[in-house]
Amino acid sequence: MEIPAIFLVGLFCVLFNDGTEVDASQPEFQNFQSCNLMVNESQPYRTSYHFQPPKNWLNDPNGPMLYKGLYHLFYQYNPNSALFGDGMVWAHSVSYDLINWVHLNHALHPTEPFDIKSCWSGSVTILPGNKPVILYTGIDANNTQVQNLAMPKNLSDPLLKEWIKFSQNPVITPPIGIEGDHFRDPTTAWLGADGKWNVIIGSSINDQGMAILYQSEDFVNWSRYQEPLYSKEKTGMWECPDFFPVSVNSTNGVDTSVIIQIDHSIIESFGGEGRTCISSRVYPQLAVHKEAHLYTTLNQEKFSPTSVYHRLKT
Ligand SMILES: *[C@@H]1O[C@H](CO)[C@@H](O)[C@H](O)[C@H]1NC(C)=O
Ligand SMILES: *[C@@H]1O[C@H](CO)[C@@H](O)[C@H](O)[C@H]1NC(C)=O
Ligand SMILES: *[C@@H]1O[C@H](CO)[C@@H](O)[C@H](O)[C@H]1NC(C)=O
Ligand SMILES: *[C@@H]1O[C@H](CO)[C@@H](O)[C@H](O)[C@H]1NC(C)=O
Ligand SMILES: *[C@@H]1O[C@H](CO)[C@@H](O)[C@H](O)[C@H]1NC(C)=O
Repeated sequence: MEIPAIFLVGLFCVLFNDGTEVDASQPEFQNFQSCNLMVNESQPYRTSYHFQPPKNWLNDPNGPMLYKGLYHLFYQYNPNSALFGDGMVWAHSVSYDLINWVHLNHALHPTEPFDIKSCWSGSVTILPGNKPVILYTGIDANNTQVQNLAMPKNLSDPLLKEWIKFSQNPVITPPIGIEGDHFRDPTTAWLGADGKWNVIIGSSINDQGMAILYQSEDFVNWSRYQEPLYSKEKTGMWECPDFFPVSVNSTNGVDTSVIIQIDHSIIESFGGEGRTCISSRVYPQLAVHKEAHLYTTLNQEKFSPTSVYHRLKT
């Protein structure tokens, strides 16, 4: 959370696709047509193409998705200040083209004992039946980081304006041995070949960063996998880790343009002193229980395939 996110919204358009369309003649979409990209000369530091809220602090992008023909972007936002602080919310904006954005009401803000101090980063997973669900880190009344669910109030609403927090939150609390302030940023879940959902959560023990793996059959009851999906000493707290397929031949997965062939990748962003600023979410297809190649890198290190290339066998 230490560093503001600068993210390339253009990236998202290649990551998601969903063929559905919305009726642009509806009154709530009229705003889009009058929303032109322009540079305001009295505000030389405002971005033009890159997403920026009307005012105040933002950091991590959360759960970008395409739903019923509209791009949705949620992000960490402080409604009270130009600096990071207590009471962070999930702000919510939508776009047809990833350049012009309409800002909606906040999707999540602190209201319950399980998120009363802040609604921190998380993800959206599209469950079967095209049902998006948010999994996010709440800072609870004891300053503990817990993982909570929220569902759209009305799935027919392409804007997904209102989100309902799950009554049985939190669904995941820090396991024994993990400090309550080192347990956050659940990824988008992916389905394993065994039919279970998998999610990783960023953590660290004594400066050893790690991605703790959880599994669930119903998205509500989560069990910790016996060992972290991956960990690496002296990397600090892993914030916004991710795990997704990387293309081998540019057909299925994100093309990282690296020379070696990699199946999946974990990206640490904002970790330690902001070693990387990459944060993206895609929907992994492959199971971790197959043999997978894992790869991590910090942008303060020189890229070295031999030192960062690991093999996971489970
Ligand atoms: C440009 O920025 C100034 C200063 O914040 C503001 O008063 C004005 O309304 C802006 N103009 C437009 C067209 O947004
Ligand atoms: C905070 O901790 C106290 C004491 O352990 C406990 O009774 C209470 O339920 C906790 N609050 C939350 C929101 O978990
Ligand atoms: C759900 O959203 C649709 C589309 O915007 C709208 O027509 C309908 O009235 C909404 N339902 C409720 C219960 O608000
Ligand atoms: C939660 O899942 C675990 C592992 O699959 C299972 O053993 C346990 O009975 C489940 N608990 C509930 C309340 O469904
Ligand atoms: C990727 O392309 C190379 C070169 O055409 C080929 O040798 C390799 O088998 C392909 N790998 C996969 C997984 O398709």
